[in-house]
Order: sequence, then structure tokens, then C-alpha cells
Amino acid sequence: MSEKATLNVNGGSYDLPLLKSSEGELCIEISKLRGQSNGITTIDRGFKNTASCESKITYLDGEKGILRYRGYSIEELASKASFLEVSYLLIFGELPDKDELEKFHNDIVEQSIVADDIKKIIDAFPGAAHPMGVLSSLTSALTAFNPDDISLDYARSKEEMYNTIVKLMGKIPVLISWTFRKKNGFPLEYSSKTRNLDYVENILQMMFKRPNEDYVQNTVLVDVLNKLLILHADHEQNCSTSTVRIVGSAQTGLFASISAGISALWGPLHGGANQAVLEMFNAIKEDGGDTQKYINKAKDKEDPFRLMGFGHRVYKNYDPRAKIIKEAAHNVLETLGIDDPVLEIAKALEEKALKDKYFVDRKLYPNVDFYSGVIYRAMGIPSDMYTVMFALGRLPGWIAQWREMRLMNEPIGRPRQLYTGSTLRKFKSISKR
Ligand code: SDX
Repeated sequence: MSEKATLNVNGGSYDLPLLKSSEGELCIEISKLRGQSNGITTIDRGFKNTASCESKITYLDGEKGILRYRGYSIEELASKASFLEVSYLLIFGELPDKDELEKFHNDIVEQSIVADDIKKIIDAFPGAAHPMGVLSSLTSALTAFNPDDISLDYARSKEEMYNTIVKLMGKIPVLISWTFRKKNGFPLEYSSKTRNLDYVENILQMMFKRPNEDYVQNTVLVDVLNKLLILHADHEQNCSTSTVRIVGSAQTGLFASISAGISALWGPLHGGANQAVLEMFNAIKEDGGDTQKYINKAKDKEDPFRLMGFGHRVYKNYDPRAKIIKEAAHNVLETLGIDDPVLEIAKALEEKALKDKYFVDRKLYPNVDFYSGVIYRAMGIPSDMYTVMFALGRLPGWIAQWREMRLMNEPIGRPRQLYTGSTLRKFKSISKR
């Protein structure tokens, strides 16, 4: 088979390398096209069919609904692994052995202290501040308290990069718990710093421990949060991960790059959808529960309403994560004895949409955000914190992608454009200068 593609334009013929992925997908390398062809570039609004990089971290097949982290299926990892194991796998490429996992956990625990002055920053936010804006700001503020993590040199030393990575894995859960506790009027406490709590147990204790009370772990919540964080851990070159990579490509430090990724994730078309989904379910409930009315609104081009939590840029089949989360939502509510009408609304919407020609023709299925809020709600997390929980899960994926980009010495990201503005025109001044 030819290892090249040939592009014929206006009588010119340009040979372009044809690359092949591990799964046999073909990719045309166009980096030399402009030079070969005296200026021809390509455009792909929203990068719907354009690879921005080569990566070895996550593979997904949208048509078949396949998702793998470093070759392991999401179904196996979600049912058998711990979130910290999966974090290690994504970041360093292989599953840790017992000693490596213990060292990773202990190094993270050592780093789960945040400068006390960060509390002054949190206190300066109004109570109504959206937690994603608070988290993005606090993550960027970490650079002020960890100046050695922004120097350009450390990125080329794996040891120093490891130290920065465990710092972030240790501090982000504290920032998230403080953001949540500030909303509840709870004192901003630290993690137990005891090594006998796993990463997820520690997060739950930091978030929910009431002042002057012991926190009793609920294994149902530990297991379901562990599963949710694994399911959100990475998803190849989605909007927020691409943001982390392009910001990092300027040799920006890890903390500031992740802060940018948190801001990108906030958007309702991306991670912010999980909050929008619950608000949609509540609106339908308040409006009498007429799910067909909202299916019709979603199909009406004159109506700006979209069925949030449905559709995906890559999955043109059921999002494998949504399948697992839907089952987990049902099990958690049943185990906790919670009868939440919102779950019934979700199931009714899904059932109607999957039978509706509009959704079937466009291959619109539930995505990762459709059922996740039902679980967070059962855990007592408010809807404006759902995307913060998404960010907590996605942290190791962002870190893994940033680390890969830096170790591969990727060039700074700087796309071209199709200019359609004014051509040269003479300036005529009206001022008296
Ligand atoms: C995440 O990329 C990732 O991997 C992201 C993510 C991750 O893990 O990082 O998976 C997480 O962001 C999941 C997606 C969460 N967003 C939502 O649930 C918001 C609702 N969904 C949509 O807005 C939309 O489906 C997107 C943004 C997810 C995808 O948009 P695309 O790929 O740009 O597709 P499109 O908007 O061009 O839609 C194609 C057609 C259009 O209709 P036509 O012009 O062909 O008539 O499908 C329609 C759209 O109007 N459509 C919807 C719809 N989603 C698409 N119509 C109604 N409701 C919807 N939800």
C-alpha cells in the first residue's frame, strides 16, 4: 500500500506522507503542504477531522463505542482498578506495581498541604462565585506559592516533573474540598495526611467531614466516586485537553496549563454539560414532567434548547462511559434507598430520544454527562460542583497529556487561518493631527 497521499490542486500535484495508527487508521501528514505548494493550507472548523498530535495515552473508536487507557478497556478499569492506579497508568504509561503505587500515594499525601494564604483568596470570592471559576483561579494561584514549578528547565528533568505532578495531585483535592466547604460554611480543613486513607476516601473526608465530628466512610460512595473519577480520567484530544496541550506547548508550567484546561471544561458544551443536564431535568420536573415536549424542543431548529448530555463529537454510538454510569446511578440510588424522580425523567428522555428519527439519523446518544449528575446529587453534591468533580477526574489525563507533549518536545501550537477580511486600502484621516 502506498505510504503517501497525493493532492492535486490547479495542475499541481503534492505527495504527502500517509501515517498509520496502532489500530490501522490512516492520517495524512500536511505539515509540509504550505511550503511545497506555495501557500496552500487546510481548514477544519472545530478540528472535526484533524489530528493535532500523536499520542499513546487514550484510544477511542466513536463508531464502535470503544474507550481504552494505555490499551486497557474502560470497562475493566472502571470495575477493577483504583483511581490512583489509573492515574499512574495514564501519566507514566504502565500500571504501577505495589511499591510504585504506595510511593505515588505517599508522595501525594506529603503534598496535600496548601499555603494558608490561599484561604485569603477563597475568602475574597463572593458566596455566589461559580466553583469552576474559583478552582481555575486557585489552580493558577498555586504558581505564586510554588515558583520553582514555573521555571522552564524543570520540564526537561523527569524527576522534577514527577515532583510537580504529585504536588498537583495532592493539592487539587484540597482546593476542591475547600471550594465545597466554603459553600457550606464549613471550616477549611486539611486532609488527614494519614496514609491509611486511599485517594478517594481522603477526598470524601475532606469534603464532607463536619466540624468536631468524625467522618464515617460509606463504601457505596467510595466505590461509585472511584468509578466516576476513572470514567472521567482522560478522553484523548477533547476541548479542555487540547487547551492544556496548546497552553503547555508555549512551555507554560503545569499549574497554569491545568488552570486553562479547567476554564475550557467549564463550558456547557463540554464538562459544564453535567450541571446543565441536572438543571434540564429539574426544569422538566417543574414543568410537569412532559419529556416529549422537551424532545420536540430539542428537535426544533427555531428553539435554542438542546438535549444536554446527548450527542458527542466522536461517539456516534452509545458512550461506553454513559452505559456504566447509568447502571451505577441505578445501583447507588437503590442501595441508598433514594427514590429520585430525576432518574425516571432521565430514563424517559433517553428512551424517547433513542427511538426518535431526529436523534437516530444524527447518531445522538447519551454521553458521559447524562447520568453522572444523578449520582453526584445522591452524594449530596450541589449541581454547580458537578463540573468540579469532572475536573477532579480529568486531572490525571490532563497531566498525562501535558507530560507527553513536553517529553515529545512538541512545537508551540500556532494554527494558520483563512483570511477573508479587507485587502489593502489607503488610510484617509478625518482627524486634525
Ligand atoms: C463532553 O470531546 C470529548 O471527548 C468531550 C467529553 C470528554 O470526556 O472530554 O466526552 C465530555 O464534553 C461530552 C459532551 C457534553 N456536551 C453536551 O452534552 C452538550 C449537548 N451536546 C451538543 O451540544 C453536541 O452534541 C456536542 C457539542 C457534544 C457535539 O457537537 P458537534 O460534534 O459539533 O455536533 P453538532 O453540534 O454539529 O451537531 C450535529 C447535529 C446538528 O443538527 P443538524 O445541523 O445536523 O440539523 O446534531 C444536532 C445539531 O443541532 N445536535 C443536537 C444535539 N447535539 C447535536 N440536537 C439536539 N440536542 C443535542 N444535544
